[in-house]
Amino acid sequence: MNLHWSIGLLLLLGVVLQVDWITAKPPTRKSLPSFLKVCHRDSPDLNTCARESYEALRPRLMEGIPELYIPAMEPLVVPQVKMDQDSGAIYLHSVYRNVKVTGISKHTVNEMRLEPSKLKFIVSLTFPNLHLESDYSIKVSRDGKIMMMPLLGDGHCMVDLTNITMRTELIGQEYKKNGANYLKINTVKVKYELSDVHIHLDNLFNGDKALGDRMNEFLNENWKALAEEVRPLMSKALVDILRASVDKLFSSFSYDDLLPKGNN
Ligand SMILES: *[C@@H]1O[C@H](CO)[C@@H](O)[C@H](O)[C@H]1NC(C)=O
Repeated sequence: MNLHWSIGLLLLLGVVLQVDWITAKPPTRKSLPSFLKVCHRDSPDLNTCARESYEALRPRLMEGIPELYIPAMEPLVVPQVKMDQDSGAIYLHSVYRNVKVTGISKHTVNEMRLEPSKLKFIVSLTFPNLHLESDYSIKVSRDGKIMMMPLLGDGHCMVDLTNITMRTELIGQEYKKNGANYLKINTVKVKYELSDVHIHLDNLFNGDKALGDRMNEFLNENWKALAEEVRPLMSKALVDILRASVDKLFSSFSYDDLLPKGNN
């Protein structure tokens, strides 16, 4: 073999290997699961594509999609939700453990709007019925009152919610990691409306059944005012639950992979 030719080949190989090494994806960059229909951010049909992509994922939501950090939705189990408030009209200290939510999978999508130019993503869903069960502990602080009545209890609770429309807005910011563009979600906003609530708290007032029944009646008669009182706490709890999944999703997959450039 001609020496010059061999050296040329080696140099060429060297260049190819080097280029390959430079463009190789770092090991931390995960690839998206193949069952996810990917949409392109400059597509004129982006929102239609996003909706189709979501509908294709829907059957998997029941069991959850660990590849995308989406927990099982039927039921959704939240180990603990804390709602504390020390000021304003309501003085409330409460913990809900082993919260199970059923009915999430039976929702309709009202809106799915991706605005890549603003790094803004909006989803609005309506849930006809949600059923929540959990162990609860509501402790009344010194001045603790809920709607002018003291409230104390520790036991099991059930809540039925009817016709909930929930609108979630995410706003992100781009940053570079390992040479790829990622999104950090700075803002998670949740707004919701509901048509009816039915609550039952077991074992209120250390098991005093007469007092407990009266309180349950009172809570159900006044659910609208009560729902408004706990709205800030409930919104914050929802944001915290959503954030856990959203943060993992966007830190694991680059924005260029989740919503690649291009318009096809
Ligand atoms: C469900 O709630 C929406 C508002 O969020 C309302 O417009 C609609 O009438 C409600 N539907 C029922 C059946 O209550």
